Amino acid sequence: MVTLDINGTVHQIDADPEMPLLWALRDKLGLTGTKYGCGIAECGACVVHLDGEPVPSCQTPVSAAEGMHITTIEGVSGPEAEAVKSAWARLDVPQCGYCQPGQVMAAVALLRSNPQPGDAEIDAAMTRHLCRCATYQRIRAGVHAAADQLG
Ligand code: FES
Ligand code: FES
Repeated sequence: MVTLDINGTVHQIDADPEMPLLWALRDKLGLTGTKYGCGIAECGACVVHLDGEPVPSCQTPVSAAEGMHITTIEGVSGPEAEAVKSAWARLDVPQCGYCQPGQVMAAVALLRSNPQPGDAEIDAAMTRHLCRCATYQRIRAGVHAAADQLG
């Protein structure tokens, strides 16, 4: 048994301790907002927050997430999350949408640590997030818009 605190709810799941957190979220708990892209921590589609830090859940064993606060796209909240979600909607940031849960989680984490990031800081924070639709310009604009809303 593995005990996971996800979006404020404690779940006990029957899983090997080495199971990737992404598998537990999607297959065991039905939290399919977090996406599977590469499986090797290269694309950012699966990023969730562990105690507020963005991490690729495809390369995080469930044992490493025990005792931590796990936040997924379904549960991310607070002023930065609301600002990012509203900026994403206003600017029509997503195209196909597949990469966007990970992009949103990275943007929220960035704004929590740096409320007014410049272009270079945004690019550095988002560099591990691939978008096959190439929405990078709108993502950057969306982070600026969210920062303006918060400011
Ligand atoms: S699926 Fe985890 S980083 Fe690509
Ligand atoms: S919006 Fe399609 S992969 Fe990013």
